[in-house]
Amino acid sequence: VTCPDGHVTANRACCALFPVVQNLQENLFDGGECGEEAHSALRLSFHDAIGFSLNSNKGGGADGSILLFNATELTFHANGGIDDITSRQFPVFETTGLTPGDFVHLAGAVGTANCPGAPRLQFMFGRPPPIAPAPDLTVPEPTDDVDAILARFADAGFDASEVVALLSSHTIAAADVVDVTIPGTPFDSTVGTFDTQVFLEVLLAGRSFPGNGSQPGEVLSPLAGEMRLQSDFVVSRDSRTACLWQAMVNNQQLMVSSFAAAMAKLQVLGQNVNTMVDCSDVIPEPAPFAGPIKFPASFSMADVEQACASTFPQIQTVAGPAPTVAPVPGS
Ligand code: HEM
Ligand SMILES: *[C@@H]1O[C@H](CO)[C@@H](O)[C@H](O)[C@H]1NC(C)=O
Ligand SMILES: *[C@@H]1O[C@H](CO)[C@@H](O)[C@H](O)[C@H]1NC(C)=O
Repeated sequence: VTCPDGHVTANRACCALFPVVQNLQENLFDGGECGEEAHSALRLSFHDAIGFSLNSNKGGGADGSILLFNATELTFHANGGIDDITSRQFPVFETTGLTPGDFVHLAGAVGTANCPGAPRLQFMFGRPPPIAPAPDLTVPEPTDDVDAILARFADAGFDASEVVALLSSHTIAAADVVDVTIPGTPFDSTVGTFDTQVFLEVLLAGRSFPGNGSQPGEVLSPLAGEMRLQSDFVVSRDSRTACLWQAMVNNQQLMVSSFAAAMAKLQVLGQNVNTMVDCSDVIPEPAPFAGPIKFPASFSMADVEQACASTFPQIQTVAGPAPTVAPVPGS
């Protein structure tokens, strides 16, 4: 159908979303940037949705409870730093007429689309209002071991390959609270691009801590100015996940297709998809990433701590001295 404002979409119900997307771009994402707000909108979408369990009552999943019941969910340790994005989203949310769940997951999809290389995520429209906050301890912590991480995700319906796929998100990610002395410290050297760089850089031998020494959930990182989460480190080197992790390196197509599939599941967790409308065509088409990825300057295969026996991809090295990764502006 053609909407009154000229946009074309598969379903008339989706027409209401085009002005919301524009509102988000103007009032939340600084005119469509892959910046701090886009990154944290994706993180928020995860922290909201993972409040769900197949086996016990752990919340309503992708229901927007983290936005509506922020007084409860923001006290949980794993939601440290999330208050930045919920407080930025709340006033915009109130101008849209959407339910909290639709708003949080639309913002996650639109913010991700601002990042070159990202997939255009599915967006299903029609989540009812959340009825209660999620309980504590549904969101994994960077101090968790692989058993705990895989168990929590399995409890929410995700297998090991989906966990690795979802961790592609850390290609557009930085930490504000793991080390509070260095807000906005990225997990890879290309934090504004949805590329496979994070899968490569997490495999490089660690050399230093970027800020105030070793903090809980942090391990040595290869580059100055870069943060490496202990959880990414252990997942990349565990026998259950190492080959899935390594397969992502320089395989943009595998990463985006598996990430998009896992996100499609995550963003409707606990929801009744039969009563929802597929409004994916309201999500902007992300800019492409040309690739291939490269080793950061001065690094090579000799720095890779390979944890999977499959052949490692051939990767060139950026010329010059080892870089210092800059913090994400506005963190
Ligand atoms: C084992 C599971 C995971 C753990 C332990 C984990 C942990 C973390 C931590 C500690 C941070 C930094 C928080 C801060 O200091 O500000 C972070 C950031 C982030 N995480 Fe995860 N995460 C996990 C999975 C995910 C998943 C599944 C997604 C999305 C699908 C996601 C998306 C993000 C994003 C986008 C950021 C960056 C936020 C920003 O730059 O503002 N994470 N994660
Ligand atoms: C929490 O929600 C209230 C509305 O209930 C809102 O005014 C406030 O900005 C939110 N705060 C944060 C940190 O999300
Ligand atoms: C630096 O790290 C130490 C040890 O983790 C901690 O006790 C101290 O409070 C930190 N300093 C700042 C400024 O955060």
